[in-house]
Amino acid sequence: MSRKILVTSALPYANGPLHLGHIIEAVQTDIWVRYQKMCGNDCLYVCAEDTHGTPIMIRAQQQGQTPEQMIAASAAEHRADYDGFLIGFDQFHSTHSPENVKLTHEMYARLRDAGHIARRSVRQAYDEQAQMFLPDRYVRGSCPRCKSPDQYGDSCEVCGATYTPAELIDPVSTVSSTRPVWRESEHLFFKLGNFEAMLRQWLASGSLQLAVQAKLNEWFETGLQDWDISRDSPYFGVEIPDAPGKYFYVWFDAPIGYIGSFEALRRQRDLNFDEYWRSESATELYHFIGKDISYFHTLFWPAVLHGAGLRRPTAVYVHGFLTINGQKMSKSRGTFITARRYLQHLPPEPLRYYFAAKLSDGIEDIDLSLDDFLARTNSDLVGKLVNIASRCAGFIERGGGRLAATLPDPALYAEFVAAAGTIGALYESRNYSAAIRDIMALADRANQYVDQHKPWKLAKEPARAAEVAGVATQGINLFRVLISMLAPVLPQMAGHAERFLGVPLQRWNDIETPLLDAPLALYQPLATRLDPAVVAALVEGSDAAAAPAAKPAQTASLPNISLADFQKLDLRIARVAAASTVAGADKLLQLTLDLGGEQRNVFSGIRSAYQPEQLVGRLVLMVANLEPRKMRFGISEGMVLCASNPDDKTGIFLLSPDSGATPGMKVT
Ligand code: MSP
Ligand code: ZN
Repeated sequence: MSRKILVTSALPYANGPLHLGHIIEAVQTDIWVRYQKMCGNDCLYVCAEDTHGTPIMIRAQQQGQTPEQMIAASAAEHRADYDGFLIGFDQFHSTHSPENVKLTHEMYARLRDAGHIARRSVRQAYDEQAQMFLPDRYVRGSCPRCKSPDQYGDSCEVCGATYTPAELIDPVSTVSSTRPVWRESEHLFFKLGNFEAMLRQWLASGSLQLAVQAKLNEWFETGLQDWDISRDSPYFGVEIPDAPGKYFYVWFDAPIGYIGSFEALRRQRDLNFDEYWRSESATELYHFIGKDISYFHTLFWPAVLHGAGLRRPTAVYVHGFLTINGQKMSKSRGTFITARRYLQHLPPEPLRYYFAAKLSDGIEDIDLSLDDFLARTNSDLVGKLVNIASRCAGFIERGGGRLAATLPDPALYAEFVAAAGTIGALYESRNYSAAIRDIMALADRANQYVDQHKPWKLAKEPARAAEVAGVATQGINLFRVLISMLAPVLPQMAGHAERFLGVPLQRWNDIETPLLDAPLALYQPLATRLDPAVVAALVEGSDAAAAPAAKPAQTASLPNISLADFQKLDLRIARVAAASTVAGADKLLQLTLDLGGEQRNVFSGIRSAYQPEQLVGRLVLMVANLEPRKMRFGISEGMVLCASNPDDKTGIFLLSPDSGATPGMKVT
């Protein structure tokens, strides 16, 4: 029976661009949702713009915009970025929406009527010039403990002390740079303590990761404090109906935005509110969030939901923070990589793949090492995965473009299909790194299969055409299983593979039946290698970015070859028996090479770097099975190997073995 599931990612704030930290969360969620959809579950993915609060109000003022203008522009940018990373929301809404205002009012009224709201007076910093109350972070001054200047109103970055803004020495409002005064104002509080027993029971139901549970237990021990949910005007937010001039604190209406976004979706599709938001058994509800906001999602949110007569989340899935090259993202180091910047340089899927290869169900931080990213995605996606399809497609094409009617190794295919069960369970439990590890181990096996059966060798014997078709058909079918299992991570590549294979890759179980006696479309490269210079340029101000003229080494743009391809080269050690210039060819030397018995005549373009007499007696490396080439001066029967700089054709360096090697030795 198919499950009904509602999934959310945290709502991004509308006052700044998305960065790769936001993207890893969206990718983690999106992979999970796509996997659920492939399993035939009825899975909805909603998100929204988080539009309220003081920072957004102030940022808009600074930009000479209304908050409405700013959040609209921000939402458009965020949507484009999420699209760029192939995040498949069913709905992306806004907390500044009629649905959200209505729901916030309703839920507040229920909490109030049930006795969960208290009112009392609070003393707070007030900026008389800007005529506004100041959140703690908007007051700065010297630390009352260590006296360090210019510290935030709630804590000292130098000595770690925590305090209230009233304790700061020489406090200053960051809004107007004037000295704040202290004013009393009535605030509304949510009585979180009323929910301790309920929260403990919810906790015991296994809705949280162990590390998150441990954190929650700490919070229980320090005692659940009332939560201040109101702010005074001016504030950009939802006004409190029975307290004019006061607004709900942004963190009160933000999670309600999950429901607001669902409401917007409900109107487009035939969905039942009570099924999703009142029953805890008819549907499942999951929130994907970062560890910095787990307090809001594991304490306040389930309590607010419960107090307002709504269901609690089935689970909250917390992830760690993204670091770049082992360090916190930082503007000064240029590693604050925005989603936009990444997309201007590179395609989304290698990063989705890399994130998948690093994500687990834990809350540890996740590092994006750019070197590792480059090496791993090039080797896994191009070298292993796509390689299977690309090396087999040609044989099918040349044999008439149809897959064979049977698999030569059905047992191997069955093994791949069986692995899909384990791999699916790993997606379900968010152990994506383990899923990717298993999938890549299968990709290795698929490549080994092709290597063992050497279709390129069989293809030389016309009588064995059926065998060639069988091996290629087996290879293509193994590829189909792999790309199907990777479809949640690589939806675009899966789409291209669908066109190549001529069948959809939308359902997890479709691979149970192999694809036989069916036409294949012409193979088009499914992925290309990333260029190291472009990856390096992701970091702002990196050398690579500063000097775009530095051309990448040419090898970077060559596709991977298999070991089997490499082994087609007959590389040998040879001794230069004789060397001379060539009349009429001022770039060439004519070499007589001794392969330990056999002699070869080779013309080589190394005259600019070597005198003939220097070379006689020297050992070199040669390609012994290069097709003989007829030149004006005679036939060249091989090639000697040199190193050279692609940007500087003058540098030519003959390669030689270490001493001890002898002519005729094979180079491997
Ligand atoms: N607006 C609130 C969330 C409200 S949800 C009802 C918020 N916004 S945020 O833009 O600051 O963060 C959005 C999500 O991105 C959060 O889950 C946060 O943990 C996550 N991340 C922000 N920086 C991150 C990293 N460097 N790494 C991973 N996730 C990070 O909080
Ligand atoms: Zn201090």
